[in-house]
Amino acid sequence: MPYAHITGWGMYVPEPVLTNDDLAKIVDTSDEWIRERTGIRERRIARAHEFPSTLGTKAALQALSVANLRPTDLDLIICTTSSPEYVFPATAALIQDQIGAPQAGAFDLMAACSGFIYAVNMAAQAIRSGSIRNALVVGTETLSRFVNWQDRSTCILFGDGAGAFVLQASSQPGGVLSAVMHSDGSGGNLLTLPVLGGRVPANEATLHRGHQYIYMDGREVFRFATRMMVSATEEVLRNARLSKEEVSLIIPHQANYRIIETAARGLRLPMERFVVNVDRYGNTSTASIPIATVEAVQSGRLKPGDTVVFVGFGAGLTWGALAAKWTGPLPSPRKITVSRYRLVGRVRSLLRRLQRYLEGLIWGRKA
Ligand code: COA
Repeated sequence: MPYAHITGWGMYVPEPVLTNDDLAKIVDTSDEWIRERTGIRERRIARAHEFPSTLGTKAALQALSVANLRPTDLDLIICTTSSPEYVFPATAALIQDQIGAPQAGAFDLMAACSGFIYAVNMAAQAIRSGSIRNALVVGTETLSRFVNWQDRSTCILFGDGAGAFVLQASSQPGGVLSAVMHSDGSGGNLLTLPVLGGRVPANEATLHRGHQYIYMDGREVFRFATRMMVSATEEVLRNARLSKEEVSLIIPHQANYRIIETAARGLRLPMERFVVNVDRYGNTSTASIPIATVEAVQSGRLKPGDTVVFVGFGAGLTWGALAAKWTGPLPSPRKITVSRYRLVGRVRSLLRRLQRYLEGLIWGRKA
């Protein structure tokens, strides 16, 4: 049975920065309140021409470049997002087209902020089963478009960004060691975004009631998050037969500094063992774990051979954790220029569209 290694990683955050002081000009809040209660100082906000697929594509290309893998060698793309570009088509399919990955199946996975852990686990399971060799997992968000900028209890929390991992099969032991995924739909009402779904139509009445925005019971989510971060981490380590002492780094979902601090206390681990960057990006939902990972690699905190635990929670309610032996790129004979493959992919995509247009002319279009 092959092992599933994480061989590439990438991130992209939009340039515009929204600070706490900027927010204090919009709603009744202050930099001090936000920093004390959440640890957040600023977040990034996507520009008008940036969408989940735009951000996700940039992170994906970087991840492929690190892995030194051609987009054409991808068998599977899983995009996980809490702010999809459309209900359908899947954001994963938009990314498949933009990176030029003609052999890849593509689908979206919805598990809110736990999505990245779920998706990496699903990709790893597909590789371990032998059915695929190369997978791309993307977490991408433009949650700023679903935030009620009049609601001070939620608008301070979220930010935009994307992160991606490449996973590849190898006979070398290592990579994803174990994972746990959990859910409790009885708490679904605690964190919701109603209008994108089929239950609450987008009409004048529902829009007037603000159903197109994120609703959250902050205190309840806080209590749930601190409990589940501890239990999921302990469970995944038990399954992987690892002790806490063997873990080099824990990369948690970045929702609130106080949640991470409380979980660290619960696990009796020092904060130095946790990666925290919520201060600079806020909660980027499915993108927060890969963004934190990329920064940990870049700062030298995460190195090949290290044991790392990813742990997250989110709407659903959902939660999960994944333990991995950190690998890095697999050896390959020559350096690949990913942008060249992307260019070919763009041309292929244009030709497909042209072909469809011409076929429409030949066979006639129904009005
Ligand atoms: N600025 C100033 N005051 C604010 C505020 C803000 N941005 N947001 C809320 N308040 C006020 C409330 O109105 C309330 O005032 P009141 O006591 O007069 O009613 C007071 O602050 C305390 O509100 P509370 O909701 O109890 O604050 P809190 O300490 O629980 O912090 C959160 C609020 C949202 C920061 C916190 O609950 C949290 O982080 N929850 C988890 C959220 C999360 O992680 N969500 C994503 C999951 S993936």
